[in-house]
Amino acid sequence: MIFLRSRFLLSQFSITATLLSSPLLYYNNISGLSSALNCDSGTLFHFNKNSSVINTSLRQFSLKMAWYCSANSNEDLVNNLKMANIINSKRVEEAMKTVDRRKYVSQSPYRDSPQQIGYGATISAPHMHAHALENLEPFLQPGMKVLDIGCGSGYLTACLAEMVGPEGKVVGIEHIKELVDMSRKNIQKDRPELLESQRVILVHGDGREGYLEEAPYDCIHVGAAAEKTPHALINQLKAPGRLFIPVGGYDQYIYQIDKDVNGNVTHKKVMGVMYVPLTDADKQWSR
Ligand SMILES: C[S@@+](CC[C@H](N)C(=O)[O-])C[C@H]1O[C@@H](n2cnc3c(N)ncnc32)[C@H](O)[C@@H]1O
Repeated sequence: MIFLRSRFLLSQFSITATLLSSPLLYYNNISGLSSALNCDSGTLFHFNKNSSVINTSLRQFSLKMAWYCSANSNEDLVNNLKMANIINSKRVEEAMKTVDRRKYVSQSPYRDSPQQIGYGATISAPHMHAHALENLEPFLQPGMKVLDIGCGSGYLTACLAEMVGPEGKVVGIEHIKELVDMSRKNIQKDRPELLESQRVILVHGDGREGYLEEAPYDCIHVGAAAEKTPHALINQLKAPGRLFIPVGGYDQYIYQIDKDVNGNVTHKKVMGVMYVPLTDADKQWSR
């Protein structure tokens, strides 16, 4: 099995050529692929060297990948994510249709790849936002409380707020002050009522510590990759509660960490990904 990272793939033309001739990629298109190649906060590609022996689960995994989801409008982007089976929940679809990505990033808002937002950060790829919302959906019911770590552009924070409704609350935490200001400005322009009602609050701080002042949370989303799972975050989950977090260095995986009603904690590896690191603010700036 070859594990191919998007950045790594750029210099691997021979491998890319092999992949382009594999059945997996007939399903995708080359421009979509090239946009995926530059990504942070996107899925990691898993391929079998011999494309004729791709097993069913690998095929299902691959068909879920989203290189071909890019579109010219928010509506079409979300419809493409639905067709790709990445969005299955009506509530996720509605939230992502309500919050127009264009209001949160000016460059290529409907391309299914991460985009730079400055300060060493990206807005994550739409398919990763969709995966996160789908995964957390049972813990994004009306009235629930959410912590969004690394809120960046504010886009996902607004989607999370849509899902928990007027009785719910989302705390967005970000360690770069300028990005806290950016997320506030974006949400203020798009959906000012979320800030006025305090359904969304945005704070400046180190997300590795969570945000004790508003804990516990029904779920926690982490938008950057932790070296190890920060225990502070598990401690700030309700029972039941769920943490969605990318963990790792070069090899990163999304982990779904569930706390059950009795407080028992389980870890499930969900998929390979590539995110910017959950780190110190000065290290991020110097990247
Ligand atoms: C891939 S970006 C995702 C941003 C946001 N979720 C979005 O899609 O617009 C990761 C974010 O995590 C932030 N970040 C990294 N380390 C952090 C830390 N220790 N505490 C809080 N935020 C952090 C970065 O500044 C960046 O905004």
